[in-house]
Amino acid sequence: MSEDGLTSGMDRAGAAPGVTTGDAPAATHGAGSGAPTGTAPGTATGTAPGVTTGAAPAGPAEAPPRFRRRGAVAPAAEEEPAMCFDRATLAYGDRVVWSELSLTVRPGEFLAVLGPNGSGKTSLLRALLGLAPLAGGQLDVLGHPPRRGDPAIGYVPQHAGFDRDVPLRGRDLVGLGVDGHRWGFGRLSRDGRRRVEAALEAVAAGPYADAPIGRLSGGEQQRLRIAQALVGEPALLLCDEPLASLDMRYQQEITELIGDWARQKRGTVVFVTHDVNPVLGYADRVVFVVNGRWAAGSTDEVLTTETMSGLYDAPVEVLRVRGRIVVVGEGSGAGFDIDEPHHFPEPVGTHP
Ligand SMILES: Nc1ncnc2c1ncn2[C@@H]1O[C@H](COP(=O)(O)OP(=O)(O)OP(=O)(O)O)[C@@H](O)[C@H]1O
Ligand SMILES: [Mg+2]
Repeated sequence: MSEDGLTSGMDRAGAAPGVTTGDAPAATHGAGSGAPTGTAPGTATGTAPGVTTGAAPAGPAEAPPRFRRRGAVAPAAEEEPAMCFDRATLAYGDRVVWSELSLTVRPGEFLAVLGPNGSGKTSLLRALLGLAPLAGGQLDVLGHPPRRGDPAIGYVPQHAGFDRDVPLRGRDLVGLGVDGHRWGFGRLSRDGRRRVEAALEAVAAGPYADAPIGRLSGGEQQRLRIAQALVGEPALLLCDEPLASLDMRYQQEITELIGDWARQKRGTVVFVTHDVNPVLGYADRVVFVVNGRWAAGSTDEVLTTETMSGLYDAPVEVLRVRGRIVVVGEGSGAGFDIDEPHHFPEPVGTHP
């Protein structure tokens, strides 16, 4: 267990040692409601330092994690977290997507958001963007409650491909990300054009920047979408499955691109991905969401047989094979092939 500790929001006994449990989504629709089955900070036996419950009664639920970026100078004590979820619950109507989420991310950290389809990964980004209000708890982003259209946040939405004939060049798409610029590349200021060129160079998209975007490959389009998010020089970059439908080589390239940007600019990254393996060298922490439950901590803390079985409420085995992590589950009924690089079993239950 690291000093950062593992925090989780599970509703059952049998969680991994050091994992404290919280409310099930069915049991509570907001912070502090319901009858928490978890333990208050500091009261659990066998709990690692910094480990708290997903249903803590008061106060920020997670102790501030240590800043861990390689080669980085330790932050000043008063440094604002890049984001702080404090017993946050997100619901659409009566439907709780995840509840009592407590998670603090420091500036410069890389957070991987994992979980199966429909578990609420995009919703987590929408909460950070101020597009999905919380049903309970609190969330601060860059020192304040989420604000729609915050120029300090870059966003790469979940990919919806471009129409083949869309009359937009890659360069125009990137230009649309320049602060306040919504009318196309032609009217960009000199500084705006400089920033577009720099962003295109950062993602090595120069050679196809003038081609119609709908004719480019998925990997090329993805690079341009990332350039668009970076051109506004954000402090926080939210990427929703930027690796979807890319082959392994492109997955690695895109991950490096984003990870290197974070290291060079000391930007914070929230990276939604179905496969943790491409981000293993970059993720300072992960949060795994499924069935309204969640667990947060380092990769080694969260992706364990014990924690994953607790999250799925079913036998799940986490294997390390040649430096890769493979999750083998029975939840889907089909099991998982160890050589199949799509690692996460289907959820075993339905949301409430
Ligand atoms: N605006 C909305 N109104 C009502 N329900 C929604 C809304 N957006 C998402 N949902 C529901 O909330 C749940 C979580 O959705 P979300 O898109 O966050 O999942 P996800 O983890 O990103 O899934 P995927 O991996 O398929 O992208 C889903 O069941 C979805 O149908
Ligand atoms: Mg999604």
